[in-house]
Amino acid sequence: MSLNVVILAAGRGTRMCSQLPKVLHPVGGMPMLMHSINTARQLNATQINVVYGYGGEKLQTSIQADDVHWCLQDEQLGTGHAVAQCVANLQNNLSSKTLVLYADVPLLQVSTCLTLLERTAHLSVLTSITENPRGYGRIVRDGDGFITQIVEEKDASPEIQKINEVNSGIICADTQDLIEWLARIDNDNAQQEYYLTDTIACAVADDKRVDAIHCEDITDVLGINDRVQLAQVEACYQQRQRHQLMLKGVTLKDPDTVYIEGQIEVANDIVIEPCVTLRGKVILEENVHIGMNTVIIDAHIGKDSCVHAHSHIEQAEIGQACEIGPYARLRPDTILADEVKIGNFVEIKKTHIDTGTKINHLSYLGDAQIGHDTNIGAGTISCNYDGANKHRTIIGDHVFIGSDTQLVAPVIINSGATIGAGSTITSDVVADKLTLSRSKQKTIDHWQRPTKKNKT
Ligand code: UD1
Ligand code: MG
Repeated sequence: MSLNVVILAAGRGTRMCSQLPKVLHPVGGMPMLMHSINTARQLNATQINVVYGYGGEKLQTSIQADDVHWCLQDEQLGTGHAVAQCVANLQNNLSSKTLVLYADVPLLQVSTCLTLLERTAHLSVLTSITENPRGYGRIVRDGDGFITQIVEEKDASPEIQKINEVNSGIICADTQDLIEWLARIDNDNAQQEYYLTDTIACAVADDKRVDAIHCEDITDVLGINDRVQLAQVEACYQQRQRHQLMLKGVTLKDPDTVYIEGQIEVANDIVIEPCVTLRGKVILEENVHIGMNTVIIDAHIGKDSCVHAHSHIEQAEIGQACEIGPYARLRPDTILADEVKIGNFVEIKKTHIDTGTKINHLSYLGDAQIGHDTNIGAGTISCNYDGANKHRTIIGDHVFIGSDTQLVAPVIINSGATIGAGSTITSDVVADKLTLSRSKQKTIDHWQRPTKKNKT
């Protein structure tokens, strides 16, 4: 059966105390709302409607999703009123089910949604049992255990307030029925809101079957209203990601300190030391080792490579059996072939480095291309910027560059060249010869060190 999804995201989120609309606050590095959109996508929804109100423009520019219908709810008159803003769209796909999700409940899993969707009932509601039902709508059942209504806390008698089965907010209904029920609900209640939850009583009155289903994993239905709950949800999210990595064959030395904020692809026998952040699209091949306090953003690291502690890697491609760091920084557009060594306090940007080349200490290479089996001595700098434009440095194969060399770009160092330490290279260097630019060493006789003047 085809599926419409309605995601409620119009609430202002006052308790976040933020300029940013609540549903744009990130969980796992991604706006909360995006989690619900992704869930809808994984369910192959025919139609994804997002009901927005506060911060509408920010929402649409931050969440660039062509497959989303944006439905404006001018005034926040309640969850039932919010869903009603999508009726025109829902009518285009009537013989379907409609699933309502909350954008501030981002951990809901596809498998949990499926337990609702698989029901043959006209309306199904996801509920949970909690020790502290305060603030939630209570699930009222009849003597046979069938749900008869949901009562919001503010409308509940002391007796009903004692019920500890609560509404998660997530419901699934036959689209045509839902549209009819939405037209029938009123705002005659404590909050003078149109409650989506009143559709349950409508269904019961129509003798339509309503199922209330317990959610197995309570983290699925955790909602975010303030930053304390945001932190709790983030912690649960991280827990799930770490768990999955470990089950896929990754050793996390101290799981609680590893942060995952993106899509991480892993293979067997990867080791990740404490305090590592993986962000964006990260691919780690077999046997990769990531040292502690390392940040990796949008990068691909080849088999058997090792990133030592305190390194920062962004938009880089690293081949197999490379050794990076400790304290290395690989900036965007760094491409390393296999068996490349990048040592401590080395920064690389927009540079392609071929197999077996070593840059072991204290260097900067930017806008460069370096051949294979080349050795770049300590303190080598590509002077790529003339104050106005960037220029390229091209270094061939089997080159040996002595320590403390400045390569003033644009410049070409041909294969097999050797450059003497301390040189400032301003023009192209021929192949297979020694080139150096250094004044001759001399000794000054009778030279005196300056002495301190007496203070008067
Ligand atoms: C709602 C449920 C309650 C449930 C609880 C679970 C109703 C009447 N009550 O209460 O039974 O236990 O969620 O967290 O449905 N929203 C709009 N437009 C509006 C009002 C709300 O888009 O006019 C959106 C909010 O952005 C949010 C969601 O709907 O994503 C829930 O709204 P909220 O005000 O938090 O409802 P609760 O009072 O918590
Ligand atoms: Mg709420």
